[in-house]
Amino acid sequence: MDKKSVPAHVAIIMDGNGRWAKSKGMPRTIGHAKGAQNLEDMLYIADELGIKYLTVYAFSTENWKRSEDEVLALMNLFRQYLRNGFRKAAKNNVRIRVIGYRPGLPKDLQDLADEIEEFSKDNTGLQFQIALNYGSRDEITRAVKQIAEEVKNGTLSPEDISEETITKHLDTADIPDPDLLIRTSGEQRLSNYLLWQLAYTEFYYTDTHWPVFGKKELQDAIEWYQTRDRRYGNAK
Ligand code: FPP
Repeated sequence: MDKKSVPAHVAIIMDGNGRWAKSKGMPRTIGHAKGAQNLEDMLYIADELGIKYLTVYAFSTENWKRSEDEVLALMNLFRQYLRNGFRKAAKNNVRIRVIGYRPGLPKDLQDLADEIEEFSKDNTGLQFQIALNYGSRDEITRAVKQIAEEVKNGTLSPEDISEETITKHLDTADIPDPDLLIRTSGEQRLSNYLLWQLAYTEFYYTDTHWPVFGKKELQDAIEWYQTRDRRYGNAK
């Protein structure tokens, strides 16, 4: 694959764990565990294909409405994933960041997120963002509150507020906007994901469920992306 036109930043909505498990007659939580395993594989595949930034939607601000059992199982999966992340990040030079409303997470997960970010901050390989308790409207609301505080305390004047000011107050400040968004499992909604950041992004949808979205499927998405006429956003 021609590395030059590989999208620098790929964002993924990892949908369909539950449907995949159901199709195999297994509980939803097995689907999530298989989804987590797939995400791990995907990091190496993305890196190998030349992708620099990967941002995945792991848990939305709306996902708290799922059953208590499912929420608990997901939180345990995130714990396990972040704990293993230290060794994996060191071994593969991956930088890990967690985006979303962190104070809304269980305290030990907040601490793990802080620690893994600090631990991996100088890694120069794949830049990997996990959206946990993330909602784009919530992120923009938090940014607006911070900007309002700066105006109130006199460090910012309203005339100086620009698109750049808003970008810099988002959880993704310092991360370039995604070039390609992939949503698996057939739905074609944005589900409150990166609304500001996806303004010029190409959207790719596939019926494949996340647990079985592999290298071939990612290559198909990239090949589709390469046929697009990129006139905006990060396009050269
Ligand atoms: C969507 O499937 C998936 C999620 C809500 C959670 C995504 C979580 C993972 C892939 C687990 C691994 C992630 C990390 C960071 C360890 P769904 O439950 O909405 O499936 P359905 O639409 O078929 O019911």
